[in-house]
Amino acid sequence: MHGKRHFSPVVVVVLLGAVRLCLAANCVKTGPCSCRMDDGSGVIDLSPLVKGSPTYKDIRSSYIPDTWVYSYNPCVPFSEGSCKNVSVCARDRLQHSKYESYGTQESAVFKSDTDVGLVLGYVDSPTLRVGAVELWCVAKNQPQNLTVVGRMPMWPNTIIMALFSPCCCPGAGPTCADSTTT
Ligand SMILES: *[C@@H]1O[C@H](CO)[C@@H](O)[C@H](O)[C@H]1NC(C)=O
Ligand SMILES: *[C@@H]1O[C@H](CO)[C@@H](O)[C@H](O)[C@H]1NC(C)=O
Repeated sequence: MHGKRHFSPVVVVVLLGAVRLCLAANCVKTGPCSCRMDDGSGVIDLSPLVKGSPTYKDIRSSYIPDTWVYSYNPCVPFSEGSCKNVSVCARDRLQHSKYESYGTQESAVFKSDTDVGLVLGYVDSPTLRVGAVELWCVAKNQPQNLTVVGRMPMWPNTIIMALFSPCCCPGAGPTCADSTTT
């Protein structure tokens, strides 16, 4: 499917070294936002993060600036403009009626990457745009957020995001989003 070629070591360098990556073991999909680590370390389930529709709205790209803002909802489809029942939607800040869909919840794929760790990817059909969410396991006392890394110039159809949350840690359980600011 959409594999390693979408992710570059540049992204890792760009993201801060202070945070522990999710393990590079495989995670077997059990639902649109959950998977089970094949090394026995437990289940990753993002559903406690879902608040609102979408949970993360109109986030600007932090590292590769552009004129778009990005919205992401784990687990549950949302609609915005011409994005219908999507997981990820991009909106052009300059042309207000311009939206791009980056895949449905059903298209979710969990991919282990030796550079990045665990990535949750969505693919839009038929455009083949890819929404890639790096899952970063952080402790509860750390800042938690969705960071939009941006679109790499060589892959303009791929938006790379990074989700920093205790819910990205295997075995975190249903209280992983408690006292979390999104
Ligand atoms: C979105 O999902 C709703 C509920 O499942 C459905 O009624 C609607 O037709 C869907 N819209 C599109 C454009 O797929
Ligand atoms: C997002 O969270 C990460 C990990 O805790 C942190 O290093 C980074 O500074 C946060 N970014 C923002 C914009 O809050």
